[in-house]
Amino acid sequence: MTQTTLITGASSGIGLELAKVFARNHYNLILVARSEDKLYDLQRELSQQHNIEVVVCAYDLTDKAAPTQLYAQLQQQNLTVDVLVNNAGYGDYGDFICSDWEKIQGMILLNILALTHLTRLFLPAMCDRGSGKVLNVSSTAAFQPGPMMAVYFATKAYVLSFSEAIAAETEAQGITVTTLCPGPTQSSFISTANMDKMALASSVSADKIPTAAEVAQFGYDALSKGKVVAVYGLANQLLTFSTRLMPRGLLRKSVKQFLAAE
Ligand SMILES: NC(=O)c1ccc[n+]([C@@H]2O[C@H](COP(=O)([O-])OP(=O)(O)OC[C@H]3O[C@@H](n4cnc5c(N)ncnc54)[C@H](OP(=O)(O)O)[C@@H]3O)[C@@H](O)[C@H]2O)c1
Repeated sequence: MTQTTLITGASSGIGLELAKVFARNHYNLILVARSEDKLYDLQRELSQQHNIEVVVCAYDLTDKAAPTQLYAQLQQQNLTVDVLVNNAGYGDYGDFICSDWEKIQGMILLNILALTHLTRLFLPAMCDRGSGKVLNVSSTAAFQPGPMMAVYFATKAYVLSFSEAIAAETEAQGITVTTLCPGPTQSSFISTANMDKMALASSVSADKIPTAAEVAQFGYDALSKGKVVAVYGLANQLLTFSTRLMPRGLLRKSVKQFLAAE
């Protein structure tokens, strides 16, 4: 029987590319984001190309009621979620004390609360069935504090810690929980997070950064193998490993330099 994957943040970047990878592998899809038009365009493209069923669910996941509403809608439509991909998320660059509180609050609601709530809603039925997969998108940011992106780095540390714990809790029930940790990736993330103000941003050319399609394929492969933590690329793997060996003070200092403003 054809399996169904729910993907949040499917209207652009890594989420959109994940939708394409799952479609190529003959999964039916439930696409979630705010941009309804983009989701309908993707629905048309993927359902025609791959002969799969694609359901569009336009929700603002910073709305605390949205996960429950989405879950109820899918129950009403008798749709089972076999794979849950919590990908929607954004960052914000700048001094914390000058930050826009609405943007910070929305980031916590999206990156942490919605991801946790959706996992809580969809995981029990997977455990009852004795099968299911979750892919939570974190970041290499999860492995250290991030001066100038303090809240974003902290949200991704939460995603990594939460997902690893849930992986351990549910493995005996036939569930795998994979945390995908990309480093910088080509997408609208950098402009949404105002990261063009970062000194390093102007010195790194876009073609040196992996595409969202490359990261999505890596995430899909890691999920298929049931990997618990999947860091994209050798350089990022070395970097995240080195954070374990470095004294915290030195780590803070070097990340501060790396993330410094122009
Ligand atoms: N790009 C990178 O360098 C990078 C590196 C590491 C980790 N990541 C992580 O990868 C994930 C995907 O990011 P991306 O790079 O693909 O960025 P992106 O192109 O900006 O995509 C973000 C996605 O999240 C959705 N989204 C944003 N706010 C939402 C809301 N309130 N409700 C529902 N959906 C919302 C957006 O759709 P709508 O605007 O249509 O709602 C969009 O589909 C994020 O969790 C990000 O933290 C990215």
